[in-house]
Amino acid sequence: MGKKVTVVGAGFYGSTTAQRLAEYDIFETVVITDIVEGKPEGLALDMSQSRAIEGFETRVVGQTTGPGGEGYEAIAGSDVVVITAGLPRKPGMSRMDLLGVNAKIVRQVSENVAKYAPSAVVIVVSNPLDEMTALTQLATGFPKQRVLGQAGILDTARFTTFVAEAAGTPVRSVKTLTLGSHGDTMVPVPSQCTVDGKPLVDVLPQEKIDELVTRTRNGGAEIVGLLKTGSAYYAPSAAAARMARAVAEDSGAVMPVCAWVDGEYGISGVYLGVLAEVGAEGVRRVVAAPLADGELAALKGAAEAVRAKQADVAGL
Ligand SMILES: NC(=O)c1ccc[n+]([C@@H]2O[C@H](COP(=O)([O-])OP(=O)(O)OC[C@H]3O[C@@H](n4cnc5c(N)ncnc54)[C@H](O)[C@@H]3O)[C@@H](O)[C@H]2O)c1
Repeated sequence: MGKKVTVVGAGFYGSTTAQRLAEYDIFETVVITDIVEGKPEGLALDMSQSRAIEGFETRVVGQTTGPGGEGYEAIAGSDVVVITAGLPRKPGMSRMDLLGVNAKIVRQVSENVAKYAPSAVVIVVSNPLDEMTALTQLATGFPKQRVLGQAGILDTARFTTFVAEAAGTPVRSVKTLTLGSHGDTMVPVPSQCTVDGKPLVDVLPQEKIDELVTRTRNGGAEIVGLLKTGSAYYAPSAAAARMARAVAEDSGAVMPVCAWVDGEYGISGVYLGVLAEVGAEGVRRVVAAPLADGELAALKGAAEAVRAKQADVAGL
């Protein structure tokens, strides 16, 4: 049978993710849901009508859902569910400022996902990301490897873009990596970065690398500051769609994602941004990247920072 993916939340992030997933033309059905009456149905109709132009056959279905879980039957049988429901930041806000309001939304969504799509792999994007991923696992009761969060592919893509611009090279000749949290304790990993196969430190001066690391860490806020009424969604949706594709194709692609870490790097019992092999069951395994001493210390620091906050989500 063909694959089915659901995107919960038909805002900027959700609608662009649904469009990308439909245009891959590898799913039989893309479902998009929202609580705003008619919005997912309207967007789904619009996307469906682009099939004849873009040349894909995926069916796109929109479904309004209610506070009591009304409408969630539409997600039944989903292989993958991407949760984008929740408020985005406004200028001056940190992702953590969204914790209380988005926890309520993500808990309600997760309970319905567990009820109506009990074997799905769940990809969380709602912020604050690391905490919402932990909450989704708690609220669904799904095995930890079946719940993962999107942050690292996006943060890495931002770092890559900045390095390519600074080095004057095509993005495809640049490899970068960011681990850690999707927030203040993001850990860009310059020791794993190369330009045309050469170590980044041989291509750019250290102070330029430090500047790009800072810009990467603030990459989301830079865009929020410019947009003023919402947050980024083109690069974020590309990242979530790639993860959903790796699950649907059971590809085993190794990508930076927010995954449950249990022993790797000497870190245990926390959702954290790490490299992981992604397939049909979600995270197949965490892949430990070789890190410089300072980078490992920063990753351990990130783990402790998010562990404290993730412990609090159980009560939200
Ligand atoms: N992880 C990342 O890298 C990353 C990047 C960008 C944005 N985000 C986050 O993604 C989330 C969505 O961002 P956006 O730009 O699409 O915001 P948006 O405001 O455009 O869309 C959010 C949508 O969620 C819907 N919604 C609210 N409660 C719901 C519920 N209970 N069930 C279903 N839908 C519900 C809203 O009606 C709205 O349409 C935000 O929390 C944002 O911070 C994460």
